[in-house]
Amino acid sequence: MGPEDRKPQTARLFRRMFAYALRHKMRVVMFVYASVGLSIFMSLPLLIVRNYFAVMLNVSGGDYSRLFLLGGLIFCCWMFIGYFEMRREIATQFLSRRSTTDLVNDVAASILRRPFAYFSGTRTGDLISRIMTDTAAADEAVGLGLHLLREPLTIALIVATTVYMNWRLALVAFVGFPLAVYPIAWLGRKIMKASRKARELTADLADTMVQLFSGAKVVKAFRMEDVAIAEFSTTTGNIFHQNMAQARAAALIRPVVQFVNGVGGVAVVVWGGYQVKAGHITVDELLTFIIALIATHKAAWTVSRAYDRMKYMTPGLERLFEMLDGEKAAHQLVASGTKTPQPLSRRISIRDVTFSYGRESVLGGVSADIDAGSVSAFVGPTGGGKTTILDLIAGFYSASGGVITWDDTPVSDYDRGRFLDQIAYAPQQAVLFNISIRENVRKGRPGASDADIEEVCLLAGVHDDIVRFQHGYDTRAGEAGASLSGGQKQRIALARALLKTGASVFLFDEPTSSLDVETELNLWQRVREYLSGKTIVLVAHRLSLVRNADRIYVVSGGTVEASGTHGRLIETSATYANLWRLHGER
Ligand SMILES: Nc1ncnc2c1ncn2[C@@H]1O[C@H](COP(=O)(O)OP(=O)(O)OP(=O)(O)O)[C@@H](O)[C@H]1O
Ligand SMILES: [Mg+2]
Repeated sequence: MGPEDRKPQTARLFRRMFAYALRHKMRVVMFVYASVGLSIFMSLPLLIVRNYFAVMLNVSGGDYSRLFLLGGLIFCCWMFIGYFEMRREIATQFLSRRSTTDLVNDVAASILRRPFAYFSGTRTGDLISRIMTDTAAADEAVGLGLHLLREPLTIALIVATTVYMNWRLALVAFVGFPLAVYPIAWLGRKIMKASRKARELTADLADTMVQLFSGAKVVKAFRMEDVAIAEFSTTTGNIFHQNMAQARAAALIRPVVQFVNGVGGVAVVVWGGYQVKAGHITVDELLTFIIALIATHKAAWTVSRAYDRMKYMTPGLERLFEMLDGEKAAHQLVASGTKTPQPLSRRISIRDVTFSYGRESVLGGVSADIDAGSVSAFVGPTGGGKTTILDLIAGFYSASGGVITWDDTPVSDYDRGRFLDQIAYAPQQAVLFNISIRENVRKGRPGASDADIEEVCLLAGVHDDIVRFQHGYDTRAGEAGASLSGGQKQRIALARALLKTGASVFLFDEPTSSLDVETELNLWQRVREYLSGKTIVLVAHRLSLVRNADRIYVVSGGTVEASGTHGRLIETSATYANLWRLHGER
């Protein structure tokens, strides 16, 4: 479905937004109270003014002493208007901003709670722009919705007053209003369309920026600056054009409203004038009418302004609620049951597992048994599917076919969160957050002591590097770990996984590939002792490392080509023997 043929959903979206506002009952009551008060005190002066004209034009006998009373009443009205306006403004702002804050929190939580599989198919920039720029739309939404509720109230009261005064004149004055409905609705659709396009382009822009800034080194190395700048200004140019299209449509609403107001004005002035001449109505009646008309024109103006802002915001709200609505679908990417896994006591069993990220099959029937307390290794040529197998064991993706069981229960039967408590994972791409190294490691086990942290860092062979930094363990890792070397990052991430002692299965995806052979071997010797009794699954390119594993799986082209111990594989697997020979690590 293209954006053009989507149904206009302004009302539905604003209702949902209002549901957030309605959580704050006291403020809503305050808003209604202030609005009603305001409407009353805005229409009261009309009656007072009418009396004033009556006195001035000598219609009711010329009792000038009443001027003091009328003046006093008008002054009181003004003061009440000021008071109610203040109350209404505070209530409006509270409801607007609180609702937006609540909604954005919900959206962010909804995104963060999604399974990993969701993120691998999503653009970061799009997520950022939804939370940052589309929120700006929501920020005004409740306020505008309230505007649209209360201005019609004002109009209705004024219209009612005029109808009460003289219904024929009222009919003439407001006859033009229905004429404006169609053209304004048409312009509203134009505004929405342009606003939606601008938002999509903004998401593209955010996405490009995330990539360019996080890949600044590559941008420099390949001298992509000029191309990037040109692309940037093309996108901002397109956003500008969409914003102008939106602004033009919004501006066109003004003359339409003005036309309708004009028709009413002319009708009242001319027809009303003749009515006075014919003696059907009095001068004071007509003058009061004209003032009422001016007030409704002002309100109509405000309503039309709020209307175009609402249309402008609709796509923003659409994008935010789309996020909330998408949560269920995202969770279906990876099945989650309710069972609580116990520490692995028998085995993880992978049976005929097939998998594809998109259309192309990545795994074509993988089977493996990982016994509790054993060390298993996955080796093989690059792109063979080793990382994918680890991701499937961790449950980041669901297998397309076959089954993975944890102590004979399919992993999809377990509650995702509690299942992950059993898994410690050091992924191939080490990810660090821009907090201190100490806190990065502590993510492995919140509540771990500094001594525990140093112990695992020592084990991961990164302690000496860390203490050499100026701020030691308090050194910040920099954006995406930018202030550390690739190998340091890997080993800090390894330390973080080692710290997760509550887990029973440890997945390591080449976390020490940057070390020299000897250091690496020593390190793993110590890690194995530290993790004795735990189940270890290791991916490695260097076969010397996996030599002592209980079972080695040779993964190539998405299948397990052979498995067994090192000694057996050397004899039976040509691929393994070949790898062993190529690495020259006899
Ligand atoms: N997120 C992804 N989306 C689409 N395809 C992917 C994704 N991740 C991996 N692939 C593809 O899946 C296949 C297996 O990748 P995988 O990362 O599992 O290989 P690997 O054996 O770990 O390789 P390496 O030794 O280089 O780390 C590759 O052909 C790769 O192109
Ligand atoms: Mg890999």
